[in-house]
Amino acid sequence: MQDFLRSLPKVELHLHIEGSLEPELMFELAERNGIELPYLSVDEAKAAYQFKDLQGFLNLYYQGMSVLCLEQDFYDLAMDYFKRASREGVVHIDMHFDPQAHLQRGVSLDVVMSGLLRAKQEAEQSLDLSVGMIMAFLRDRPAEEALQVLEQAAPYWDKLDAIGLDSAERDHPPSKFVALFERAKELGLARVAHAGEEGPASYIIEALDLLDVCRIDHGIRCLESDDVVERLYQQQTVLTVCPLSNVSLKVVDELASHPLPALLDKGLNVTISSDDPAYFGGGLLDNHIACAQAFGWDEEAFQALNRNAMKEAFTSEPRRQELL
Ligand code: ADE
Ligand code: ZN
Repeated sequence: MQDFLRSLPKVELHLHIEGSLEPELMFELAERNGIELPYLSVDEAKAAYQFKDLQGFLNLYYQGMSVLCLEQDFYDLAMDYFKRASREGVVHIDMHFDPQAHLQRGVSLDVVMSGLLRAKQEAEQSLDLSVGMIMAFLRDRPAEEALQVLEQAAPYWDKLDAIGLDSAERDHPPSKFVALFERAKELGLARVAHAGEEGPASYIIEALDLLDVCRIDHGIRCLESDDVVERLYQQQTVLTVCPLSNVSLKVVDELASHPLPALLDKGLNVTISSDDPAYFGGGLLDNHIACAQAFGWDEEAFQALNRNAMKEAFTSEPRRQELL
């Protein structure tokens, strides 16, 4: 099964590029940029990756990305991940990135965008990989700031596929970002949002009704409401479910009790992603292997999940047809 899963062409719809920063590269960049880390070694960093909840993770995630300063750093971050993913049989990645987290530290949008776009272009030429760009906004920061950043990104609008909504979900409902998502729609950008990860099922409905999203990132708490499940079923909205992330962030107790099989039983449009592979114990292949072990799914089940993802990936029609 592991060989099959490795060679299966896989599609990653939910990946935070800053969450792909492995401790080895984090240390290299820290040294390059003269930044002090709160860890003495790679092993010490890895040992610190034990999370109580989403906020506990976010604290280390934002601290980790403080080593990203120059265009070359963003290029190295993305290229390092693209090569690793490609070796694992990943053929498409829709990549979230968090501009506000960098702007806040005095790193310009041009630095972030040019590094990531250079890596994307090179990966698309040299690896069998396509990359979608999702500019994500931090829901625990002011809505006005998000809108300003989207306007500031005008030179890059044509390079974006979508906007997303991430960071601390509790007490930051989708309704806070109606104006941002309306503007993105006006600009012809697709829209996705994290909802129902730590937040309630009602946030999923808000994201659908108020933000007009085409995907729900995570969404697993939909199972707490029959109405929400019915809505997701009727619309066949894609859920980008991240099993190892949910275990790491204690959204579920263990993989064996993860709601993935229940979501499939309800006929929902489920896909599998890795979220923040450097922090949650592995990339897309590891997520697949863990699911095979926990749920005993057969080869067709994994083919179907990746077909679901390919249909929704932010890529050109010829590339989609090539992948399907
Ligand atoms: N940013 C990076 N990973 C995230 C997650 N799992 N949930 C919300 N925001 C995030
Ligand atoms: Zn996420």
